[in-house]
Amino acid sequence: MPQWNAQDYAKSSSAQAIWAQELITKLNLSGDEVVLDVGCGDGKVTAEMARSLPKGFVLGIDSSAEMVEFAIAEHIQPAIANLQFACMDARKIDKKSFPGKLFHFPFHIVFSNAVLHWVDDQPAFLRGANRVLGWGGKLVTSSGGKGCAVDVVRVFEALIQQSTWQPYFTNFQFPYFFYSADEYAAWLPESSFQPVRVDLVPKDMIHAGKEGLASWIRTTWMPYIHRVSESRREELIEEFLQEYLNHHPLDSHGNSHVKMVRLEVEAIKI
Ligand SMILES: C[S@@+](CC[C@H](N)C(=O)[O-])C[C@H]1O[C@@H](n2cnc3c(N)ncnc32)[C@H](O)[C@@H]1O
Repeated sequence: MPQWNAQDYAKSSSAQAIWAQELITKLNLSGDEVVLDVGCGDGKVTAEMARSLPKGFVLGIDSSAEMVEFAIAEHIQPAIANLQFACMDARKIDKKSFPGKLFHFPFHIVFSNAVLHWVDDQPAFLRGANRVLGWGGKLVTSSGGKGCAVDVVRVFEALIQQSTWQPYFTNFQFPYFFYSADEYAAWLPESSFQPVRVDLVPKDMIHAGKEGLASWIRTTWMPYIHRVSESRREELIEEFLQEYLNHHPLDSHGNSHVKMVRLEVEAIKI
């Protein structure tokens, strides 16, 4: 499992937060829904959702104990009664292990932003999501889809072939699960979901210059970066940046761009 640094992620995930906000808008919340946020990370998106649910509730779950501890420390306050976090794997969603009385709640929405491309078993996730939803409940997710960050992957793939880095990457396997819309749509009915929308959506990810791009690489491309001994990680990141920015230079405002592809899924429990 990749080792997340919750503090760094919280500081360098503004692009993910913008996408999450776009996804929340699509939920058309009325304020009394009970929501499960799968892969809640540092918890800022979950907490934001809780503020939109004065009569509802949101539970954020994440497989990283560090992320969950950070989310609890940053966002749980006595005054906010409609927000909780728990450590749980997206492939093993189990209502019986939910904290407090949440076991008894029929969930209205299972939400997930920027997570599912880390998950190797989508049918297991979908079965768990289906189990916690009440009848007619919504599944709304956005994750990396087929072709996501192809230019970043290309630079990494070339770098790890070089003699300097190759020894660190013996038996390395591509770490992300970027599915097509057709692949995903096929899994939904098998888990008793009726697809409403399954789309690949291109997005321009913007980072504040070279440093912004470096922070994103450092905090979310750990499957590559953490293969290398700690003392050499910054060297690998620097080589990545030089190569990437050589082919995709900063724009006239000094920002860097990465072509992303989101797999957006909306479905109803049947
Ligand atoms: C890029 S962060 C997204 C965090 C948050 N949803 C956001 O929009 O900012 C990805 C999160 O997915 C979590 N994650 C990865 N695999 C997971 C799994 N199998 N089960 C639950 N969480 C997982 C990671 O621990 C990490 O916190």
